[in-house]
Amino acid sequence: MVDLEKSHDKLLNTYARKWIEFDYGKGARLFDIEGRDYIDFGSGIGVNSLGYGHQKYVQILSDQISKLTHLSNVYANSIQAELAARLVLLMGDGAVFFSNSGAEANECAIKIARKYGQRKSRDCYEIITLKSSFHGRTIATLKATGQEKYHEYFYPFPDGFNMAKDIKSIYHLINTKTCAVMLELIQGEGGVRAFDKKEIQDLAQMLKKEGILLIVDEIQSGVYRSGKFLASDVYEIKPDIISLAKGLGGGIPIGATFTRIKDIFVPGDHGSTFGGNFLSMRAGLCVLECLEEWERSGGLERLSQTFLQKLQAIAKKYNSKFDAVSGLGLMLGLVCKDPNLQEKIVDKALEQRLLILKAGKNVVRFLPPLLLSNEEMQEGFDRLDRALSLL
Ligand SMILES: Cc1ncc(COP(=O)(O)O)c(C=O)c1O
Repeated sequence: MVDLEKSHDKLLNTYARKWIEFDYGKGARLFDIEGRDYIDFGSGIGVNSLGYGHQKYVQILSDQISKLTHLSNVYANSIQAELAARLVLLMGDGAVFFSNSGAEANECAIKIARKYGQRKSRDCYEIITLKSSFHGRTIATLKATGQEKYHEYFYPFPDGFNMAKDIKSIYHLINTKTCAVMLELIQGEGGVRAFDKKEIQDLAQMLKKEGILLIVDEIQSGVYRSGKFLASDVYEIKPDIISLAKGLGGGIPIGATFTRIKDIFVPGDHGSTFGGNFLSMRAGLCVLECLEEWERSGGLERLSQTFLQKLQAIAKKYNSKFDAVSGLGLMLGLVCKDPNLQEKIVDKALEQRLLILKAGKNVVRFLPPLLLSNEEMQEGFDRLDRALSLL
């Protein structure tokens, strides 16, 4: 038997790993190296939106690998242009920049906002972000992240960020230096917390009036995770900048930054070696095609409703453990009464061969593949029920 923990000792110690190794997946099931099956209600933290081994996805990506995976962005790339056009159709008039991750998508959003601010005045560069937010691990996106625990050791951070403790406080922090407000509509890492719709709509309206940009980080909530293409669609707002990543590639690294300010950049302002490569663009197009059809058929809505009902039934059955169900669409959380329960539930579920995630201090998070079958969903909930009954 390989000692998994020991075999990882040449890796920097950045992840609190579970010592279990998977071999392959099919649908929403993962199989470990000993052939045991697991139901995945986490999809690699909201990434594997089509599940595993999706036939069309596998075919399209295999074909693309055999042709080309990468070329420099100094050459034309019609697949990139096609994915951008498709995203623009879904998000409204604007333009897109492709990168490789969520943090990079947000870095681009920050640069767009700063350049926009510079058009007004040299001192207009400040971005207001929110407490409990999560925007990435690069130095700038870490500073934008409103969780002090991630900041320790990594000072100094770049200037130009200000943290509001809630939506109302944003109004008090705005001044002539403010170029943008950046937020998640449903805070994911912060604890699967959806903001109030009216509060967000009022904020969006005020920002528009003041000429301050609204950046919505939809890296976790985007690409049908919320039930619609964007959580912004659920909130009925039109942000100036939207960042996407995770689910857009269905497992291939991708980042995308959309903005309505189409003329913001000129060549040299921004770029990426790997961003927009053939493989990730094919992956994005395939994910969108499959999920657009799934939403149009009403399947996604039915799945989200049933998943929510089942989770609510669990919250009710174990009401001594849970306060509430939180979130939207298939980005859901069970809020634990006792924060100590969070890790115990995730571990017990793993023993029952169900993968679920943690979020914030006391939330157990559910981000299942968006193409989950009824049978897989039921099996997952049976395992969750069993795990909870043993605690
Ligand atoms: C809302 C949000 N923004 C940004 C990120 C960072 O994405 P990445 O890890 O791809 O850089 C994440 C990742 O969890 C996220 O959930």
